[in-house]
Parts: sequence; C-alpha cells; structure tokens
Amino acid sequence: MFPTLSAESCHEPDRSRSLSPPDPMTTTTATAPGKVILFGEHAVVYGRPAIAVPVAKVKATATLTDAPAGTGCTISAPDICAHIRLSSHQQDPLALAVRLAIEEACIEADPDWQITVSSDIPIAGGMGSGAAVSAALANAVFTHSGFPAHSRSDAETVNRIVYAVEKLHHARSSGIDNTVVVYEQPVWFVRGQPPQRFEIARPFHLVIADTGIASSTAAVVSDVRRAWEKNRERYESVFDNIGEIAVAARQAIASGDVNALGPLMQENQRLLRQINVSSTELERLIAIAEDAGASGAKLSGAGRGGNLICVVESESVGKVQKALQAAGAVGTVVTQVGS
Ligand code: PMV
Repeated sequence: MFPTLSAESCHEPDRSRSLSPPDPMTTTTATAPGKVILFGEHAVVYGRPAIAVPVAKVKATATLTDAPAGTGCTISAPDICAHIRLSSHQQDPLALAVRLAIEEACIEADPDWQITVSSDIPIAGGMGSGAAVSAALANAVFTHSGFPAHSRSDAETVNRIVYAVEKLHHARSSGIDNTVVVYEQPVWFVRGQPPQRFEIARPFHLVIADTGIASSTAAVVSDVRRAWEKNRERYESVFDNIGEIAVAARQAIASGDVNALGPLMQENQRLLRQINVSSTELERLIAIAEDAGASGAKLSGAGRGGNLICVVESESVGKVQKALQAAGAVGTVVTQVGS
C-alpha cells in the first residue's frame, strides 16, 4: 500500500524544471479498466454487499508528457471536447484527480505537463467510465513523478483519490466503482469495509450490452433515496433481498456452481424493477438475450439506461451477442470472469 506522505516528507519541488525544458521530453501512459456490477447495485448504497468485476476489454488511458517550461498543466479529453487548465479548474473531476495526485506526490502545484485522456468505456453507461478516467490520471501522475514506492500494488492512495472524485459526481457513492477499477480485481464489497477478493472456482462468460441510453447515476440514486424516504420498510426489505442474492451468488461463484448465476440474476433484476430503476429498453434487451440463450440477465450500475449484463454458457455467447446487436444494442462486449 502507498504510505500517506506527511507534509514533512514532501520533496522540495524541482525548480530547475521551470528554468529549462526537460530533456528528453518524457511521456508516461497509464490505464484503468471498466467494470460491471454483477449483483447488488443500489442496495450497496444502503450497506448491503455487492459483487463487481473489472472489464479489461474497455479502458481509460491517460498520457502525460512534459511540456515547455512555464506552460503549466493542461488536461485534454477530446472524447468530451474538454480542454482544462489545471490552475483554473480546481473542482472539475479531471482536474481534481490530477490535483489530488499532485498533492499526494508533493510536487509543484502547476507542473509543466500536457495530459490527454481518452476512454472506450461508454460514458454514463454503468461501466465505471468516470472512475476509470480518474484512476488512469492518478496512476499517470504517480508513475511520471516517480512517487516514492509507487507500484500497481499500492492502490490504496489511488482508491482514495478516485473515491473523492466520485463523490463530486454523486455524493452518496458507495465506493464500489473506484474500488473495482483501481484494484482491477473481482471484489466483494460492503460499504465502509475493506474490499475482499473472492474465489472464482469456475470461469464464466458475460455478454455486456449497451442500450445507448445515457443515465445519470446521481439522478437515479437520488430518486431511489426519495422513494426510500417515503417507504423505508418496503425499500429496506427489497435491499435485504438483494443482499441475500449477493451472498448466494458469492457462494455459487466460489463453489463453481455457475448454473445458479442465471436465476440469481433474474431474481436480482426482478427486485431492481421493484425499486423502479429498470426501463422499457433494458427489459426489451434482457428478454431478447434470454430468448437467445442467456441463462439470466440484468441491468448493471445505476439503471434506467446504460448497460445490461447476461451470464451465458460459452456455446451460446455468439448467438446472444448477435441477437443483442440485431435488436439495436449500440455496443457489446464479451468478457470472461475468472481465468
Ligand atoms: O452507474 P454506476 O456504474 O456509477 O454504478 C452505480 C452503482 C450504485 O449502486 C447505483 C451507486 C453506488 O454508488 O454504489
């Protein structure tokens, strides 16, 4: 884990960097994967367990290059037409990720860097795009600045930074997105507790399909909150049931009982419908996936749009993927959970 550096342990900023351009210009590239929540979204905000896995086939990439002296730090995200000067955008999510990493590494506040960030993770699609971008940025800053003892295993500091940025997006963030994206491992997650790894006795396939409908996690989480406030007993009981499904799914995954996962996904989806976070398009694509041979399917992430996930036996993967594409899914990804 990263040591948290105290003010005393900071290095003196290297002033020579502002006198002459670095020679040679160096470039650092860092990435972070997407993620899907297998079981437990929304209930996880209310303390129930959830299971999430990284999806390495999609990723965010940050490229950091030394810039001419005196030009300061700029962050470009061509995908979202953003071009940000670090010194004047302290509360922008991209700028916050970089600024917190700079503070942690105790380097000068406005280094001469050009940072470009790109991502093939659908934005607002429930696949952790925001968390992955923040993680890639923080990793790029640490690697480039030679932050003491930085290595991929020292993820705790990056996780803390990414969680702080997630809370800009939605204040009630459970912390599951940043955890799975930063640790790049399947996680059993309970809010406020250290994430746990769990055993995957037998690998299984997921087909992930994008409805193409952007969904604001903050808006959906707020709607659920309002409904919970009006009817706590009913919502707490649904969250209990979702938590029980996560427990059963963990046992099934750890014992290699892959056949149990489809029905558990169907049951989780039935409960998500009850808290009004599904949508006509999600339901249509879920039905098509199950007709094409998926053992079970559900929305993943906040819902109302974004992505659905289907657990599929290997021989049916192609058929399910084609059926979803033919039905209008704007993108599909096939991933294996476990190796
Ligand atoms: O839509 P995403 O990928 O940000 O996932 C949100 C998951 C929720 O459980 C709905 C919220 C949370 O913070 O856990």
